[in-house]
Amino acid sequence: METLKGMERTKNCGELRKVDEGQIVQLAGWVSRRRDHGGLIFVDMRDRSGIVQIVFDAAEMGDTFSKAETLRNEFVIGVRGKVRARSADTVNPKMATGEIEIVVNELRILNKAKTPPFYIQDGVDVDENVRLRYRYLDLRRPEMQQNIMLRHRVTKIMRDYLDENGFLEIETPMLCRSTPEGARDFLVPSRLNPGQFYALPQSPQIFKQLLMVAGFEKYFQIVRCFRDEDLRADRQPEFTQLDIETSFLNQENILTLMEGLIKKIFETTLDVKIETPFQRMSWDEAMNRFGSDKPDLRFGMELQDISEFVKGSTFKVFNSVLENGGQVKVINVEGYADIPRRELDELVEYCKIYGAKGMAWIQYSADGIKSPFKKFYSDETFEQIKKATGAKTGDLLLVVGDKPSVVAQTLGELRLEMARRRNLIDANKLCFLWIVDFPMFEYVEEDKRWKAMHHPFTAPREEDIEFLLTAPEKVKANAYDIVLNGVEVGGGSLRIYQSDLQEKVFEAIGLTKDEARAKFGFLMDAFEYGPPPHGGIAFGLDRLVMLMAQRKSIRDVIAFPKTQSAIDPMSHAPSEVDDKQLRELYIKTTVKKA
Ligand code: AMO
Repeated sequence: METLKGMERTKNCGELRKVDEGQIVQLAGWVSRRRDHGGLIFVDMRDRSGIVQIVFDAAEMGDTFSKAETLRNEFVIGVRGKVRARSADTVNPKMATGEIEIVVNELRILNKAKTPPFYIQDGVDVDENVRLRYRYLDLRRPEMQQNIMLRHRVTKIMRDYLDENGFLEIETPMLCRSTPEGARDFLVPSRLNPGQFYALPQSPQIFKQLLMVAGFEKYFQIVRCFRDEDLRADRQPEFTQLDIETSFLNQENILTLMEGLIKKIFETTLDVKIETPFQRMSWDEAMNRFGSDKPDLRFGMELQDISEFVKGSTFKVFNSVLENGGQVKVINVEGYADIPRRELDELVEYCKIYGAKGMAWIQYSADGIKSPFKKFYSDETFEQIKKATGAKTGDLLLVVGDKPSVVAQTLGELRLEMARRRNLIDANKLCFLWIVDFPMFEYVEEDKRWKAMHHPFTAPREEDIEFLLTAPEKVKANAYDIVLNGVEVGGGSLRIYQSDLQEKVFEAIGLTKDEARAKFGFLMDAFEYGPPPHGGIAFGLDRLVMLMAQRKSIRDVIAFPKTQSAIDPMSHAPSEVDDKQLRELYIKTTVKKA
């Protein structure tokens, strides 16, 4: 193989333009595509900056032309040549470099490549497992390079912005104590302490609070977090947070600082105008109007309550729902009254996934009203519902009656599904929103106990403290989530900094003093030494960049992600280990070997 010696690159492929015409340039990169026209070979040459067309002309190259004939996709090459303007009929307006090409007079083949398992180009339709198995090739594709470069720019702006605003970047441990609140921990056995385990951090929550006790006032960290939970398109077992904590700031101060950060990130990298302050909406309102604590505000189709119109009839289903404290709500799918029956049946099944016992509908068709509960109500009732919901002839109301949480979840998901089917979502819109006034606790049916909705260090609203032990359902927290286009991209809260209040909250979630001490003793100790009022937030970096890059999965903005089943198909992690390794760690598995 040859080297670049004496022919080191002078330009990047993607930066060449018409103004460079006539220049002699030296480029290095990969063969992206090759077209052989007999005495003329065209190669799309790729490096990190982009693609440029290079031309090998037998008439001009003499003997070295035969070398060009051996080129194959993904060979690594260095070339020297002259920038030439393309003739008008060969200009490619789709390429940034499409007005020029390089006529090569020297070629070095720096390395060969096997035929890759898929084309190294944008928009390839390849099974994701294959992409992940050959991730280094997948990452060569220009769109993936763009995503990773965008991610770099975002973190750079984060660091700069926070630095300008007086924040310090401080690292916290990766080997931590397991604190079983929240998701399941990833455990690491300690060889030096037989039978004992570290946990990988689910977030640096406690450490960042301790940094406030330590007097650093403004902390941030771009930090890996680990959660052993079921995976989805926007969840990875290890993911990255921009983690932030501040002292002496109130909620409004924190939200404003974060809005400034988001504005700067989006305006600098995507060149879009972001209006601040962002809309704020209480959790109650979000659940009522959108059935979700992360509503996508790019379209309407809000949930509407029709309980008052359907109550007291002979229709048993709605009656029993309403008598048991439930509600009957609808969404209006405009212009969809004539939906095929088959699709309605399919939507009923869709709703069942979210715990609804069923779904009904009202079709305000031009040729009359159709509804499975038509015979139980007068025409007048259907007209009242039509008026109250603002439905028009031609519209379809999808109806769910159940307890409020099930109605919210089902209609919230149905709203998203119908928006997708009806193409109501403008992909170029950016709808930021703060959700505030979260409930402090949620009730966990299976454990029969209250659990902190955010985490147990979140401060309750001052006016609700009196209900902590008597009526936990009434207590709202000083917690906030930031939502972008229906995705929770960050969340945080003001923290409790008074020991007696913290003890009360532990008590409310059923932790005795001793249990609380056993789990969080070091935090409680620290809180005896003058912790300042403090609060913070963490952004999901992967999710943020995913939305900025308009991707559907965070895997597309992480260089080496795991699959849905937490596997890396490239390195084959996780894997079995030697018995010796296990013995050293005092570990025996209970898995039966096949
Ligand atoms: P929270 O648990 O809400 O808060 O996490 C903050 C943000 O991290 C992102 N996120 C994830 N991204 C990818 N994969 C995952 N498995 C995953 N889990 C969470 C989300 C989420 O909004 N310590 C608190 C923050 C605080 O109170 O300051 C915390 O971790 O975008």
